[in-house]
Amino acid sequence: MFSLQGKTAVITGGGSGIGRAISLLFARQGATVHIVELNAEAAAHVLSEIQQAGGQAQVHQANVADQQQVLQVFEQIGKLDILVNNAGIAHVGNVENTSEADFERVYSVNVKGAYNCLFAAVPRLKAQGGGAIVNLASIASHVGITDRFAYSMSKGAIFAMTLSVARDYLADKIRCNSMSPARVHTPFVDGFIAKNYPGREEEIFDKLSKSQPIGRMGTPEEVATLALFLCSDEASFITGCDYPIDGGFIRLNN
Ligand SMILES: NC(=O)c1ccc[n+]([C@@H]2O[C@H](COP(=O)([O-])OP(=O)(O)OC[C@H]3O[C@@H](n4cnc5c(N)ncnc54)[C@H](O)[C@@H]3O)[C@@H](O)[C@H]2O)c1
Repeated sequence: MFSLQGKTAVITGGGSGIGRAISLLFARQGATVHIVELNAEAAAHVLSEIQQAGGQAQVHQANVADQQQVLQVFEQIGKLDILVNNAGIAHVGNVENTSEADFERVYSVNVKGAYNCLFAAVPRLKAQGGGAIVNLASIASHVGITDRFAYSMSKGAIFAMTLSVARDYLADKIRCNSMSPARVHTPFVDGFIAKNYPGREEEIFDKLSKSQPIGRMGTPEEVATLALFLCSDEASFITGCDYPIDGGFIRLNN
């Protein structure tokens, strides 16, 4: 079960955190993995981890926010079965302290970046008779989170784009779903704690862990396992769905 043998998968942001775990797992399950990543060094590290484990992968250094770069990468890749729109950036702030530049930066990576990859991938998936797309949404797509104005905007858009693509390509056998993690312990989390709460890292880490009713953050591997299920043929009846993977955050925080 859950074999990806013979399949080609594009994972954006596969150089770190959740994207790295998805790249490693998909390669282990037999997929040829294409990591589309801004940080070439991080991607090269993941590539060598995959190769050492006997898997197949390639790295494409690109900024998902740049449509020309994205189109060139997909041109090089050719055949495609799976797209995981994972690359994303964080921003902390409410509407008043989110500048236009902050808003546009988050929009260009998290929203336009996902659109660019969908724009490039969908015609290829159609041409080859179908495929699976998984987009990284967030609990912030569904509930109000303090000081996440721009980030929530971007993840709400991911949720809506997921439904739109799932609806439009039913007949083309393209399944499109999203995952909504609560806090997952990755460099993304460590980075924003260090940047936004200097000197209070331990206290904030503890607070963020306890904000999941289950009492801890998730792991990238747990999210990768859900992505594997959604991209596998075993999930063939699932499209247009969002999957909270959140230690009870959305439903049990009362
Ligand atoms: N970690 C969490 O708690 C959490 C929770 C919910 C959703 N998510 C989402 O999961 C995704 C991955 O998060 P993570 O925690 O693994 O992050 P991360 O920062 O560890 O990894 C993100 C990767 O994306 C790459 N990237 C960033 N901008 C890019 C661009 N413009 N073009 C190409 N690559 C780019 C980075 O270089 C990095 O390697 C994001 O979309 C994030 O919003 C994360």
